[in-house]
Amino acid sequence: MSEGIILEEAPDIHEQFQVTPPALMVIFGASGDLANRKLLPAIYRLTQQRLMPPNYIILGYARSPLSDDDMRQRARTSMLANPEVEFQNADWEAFASRLFYVSGDYDDAEGFQRLSERITTLEEQWNIGGNRLFYLSTPPSVYEPIVTCLGVAGLVEPAGRQSWTRIVIEKPFGSDLHSAHKLNDHVLSVFDEEQVYRIDHYLGKETVQNVLVFRFANGIFEPIWNRNYVDNVQITVAESIGVEGRGGYYEKSGALRDMMQNHLLQLVSLTAMEPPIAFDAKAVRDQKVNLLQAIRPLLPEEVPEYVVRAQYSAGTAATRPVPAYLDENGVASDSTTETYVAWRLEIDNWRWQGVPFYLRTGKALPRKASEISVTFRRAPHLLFDSTEGFESSVSQIDGGVRSTTQGLRMNGDSLSRNVLTMRIQPDEGITLKTLAKRPGPSVNLTPVNLEFTYGHSFGEPPDAYQRLLLDVVLGDSTLFTRRDEVELAWQRITQVLDGWRMQEELTANGRKPFRLPHYPAGTWGPSEADFLLEKEGQHWVTE
Ligand code: NDP
Ligand code: BG6
Repeated sequence: MSEGIILEEAPDIHEQFQVTPPALMVIFGASGDLANRKLLPAIYRLTQQRLMPPNYIILGYARSPLSDDDMRQRARTSMLANPEVEFQNADWEAFASRLFYVSGDYDDAEGFQRLSERITTLEEQWNIGGNRLFYLSTPPSVYEPIVTCLGVAGLVEPAGRQSWTRIVIEKPFGSDLHSAHKLNDHVLSVFDEEQVYRIDHYLGKETVQNVLVFRFANGIFEPIWNRNYVDNVQITVAESIGVEGRGGYYEKSGALRDMMQNHLLQLVSLTAMEPPIAFDAKAVRDQKVNLLQAIRPLLPEEVPEYVVRAQYSAGTAATRPVPAYLDENGVASDSTTETYVAWRLEIDNWRWQGVPFYLRTGKALPRKASEISVTFRRAPHLLFDSTEGFESSVSQIDGGVRSTTQGLRMNGDSLSRNVLTMRIQPDEGITLKTLAKRPGPSVNLTPVNLEFTYGHSFGEPPDAYQRLLLDVVLGDSTLFTRRDEVELAWQRITQVLDGWRMQEELTANGRKPFRLPHYPAGTWGPSEADFLLEKEGQHWVTE
């Protein structure tokens, strides 16, 4: 845990990945934001790091009438504007020569015919063999037609016995259990599950993968990673930005679908799952599925007790003014879409019975922060009788804290607990809060942190899309979600949506009025979310 970690000589990463096979990547929606801001830069950086083979190419497909050169120009502009890209003319020229474009509709057989012909020509020219990767980087409304057209155009079957065809599907994968199930049925009527890579970019973050390494490569944590030692687990994924021009999309999504269904439930799975027998796709995903199954289902009438939703009003977040959600473009003036959600969930298994998991995510919060905090139980008997920050009337910090107010008692409780925080971003790292004696003649306890920071030990971690795209080409689906996994996550989310719908119906009938809580941009959400914890003597750790 200390900064002074001595690293053993790492194997040369380039040698390790010499095996990256040749491939042709088709990006549907290549004219769009994700393609230009994330996917192309990720492949550019992989190329700079010599992790891509010499014979790979990228073929963009979208409705916009662009030429190959137009696509290159757009990619260039976007890369120059990207602070994470180290733009080098020679690297760019080599990369740009691999970019091609076909224009067509997403449900147009003729367009897909042109695409198929171009694929054949380019594969021959670049001696690629038949490995093909299709990336759906379009709005979800056209996922189904694209899959259908790929099937009709004969582009699904691998082109040769030694080659493969894979499809990457962006989030959101459905909007509730029913639509996710239907989309899965459709995709799997054309592709086999082994060909399908459902992406959740959080799984590509180095710090998220490190949750498993931290838990299962270090012998000291697993024995205490359970209800006997853990008091509660908190997962916060906070953003300081508002919806920033994505109002149209967000209106139909909201924080529950946009973040909780995928990123936060993935973080819960990795934090709480049982050890897999191997670090491979089946073993890891089997354990994640077991964990999702153990999340206690909610009845519609129970939802208000465990889940808080809210929407931001105008304010200032991270020094920037943020307009009220209702004033964002594409948002209905009477919208009740939630931009914040907090959820207290329980996991019904031997390891976690009775341990609350508090999750929250929101836009327009004070700062960007994704953190997992595991708070351990207090020491059973404390020998020391003073703690910094306590008023003099508080002389003891174990079970029978003598304090005058609830606030003080909670402060004392939390001061006396060890908290392990895994910071996913920013300032990636791990902190263990412990108590130490402040130097001096009396025994004065004060919290101190044992720190590990990625930047200090390893430098800046790479972008998640780099790792995930490389994994698809290498055929490793460990960091992608399987059909049963995505549907289970939707099942739990749909129960919350059902509860909210019931709440709204009762309101419409005038039987039980519900008013959506609001929070000013730049604050940590509504008081209702604080109360969710306070009623159990807890408070949010991240602030
Ligand atoms: P865009 O809105 O930029 O759409 C991508 C392309 O799809 C557009 O350039 C456009 O191309 C086409 N398109 C747009 N709207 C429609 C429509 N209504 N019907 C048919 N085609 C349309 O999306 P993003 O690039 O932002 O996102 C792509 C996918 O990735 C989405 O599913 C999104 O949820 C997901 N995603 C995006 C992230 C991001 O950071 N942007 C992050 C995580 C996931 P043309 O008109 O040329 O056909
Ligand atoms: C996306 C959501 O999946 O994740 C966005 O659609 C959100 O609304 C983004 O802003 C957050 O990702 P990151 O990597 O910036 O935490």
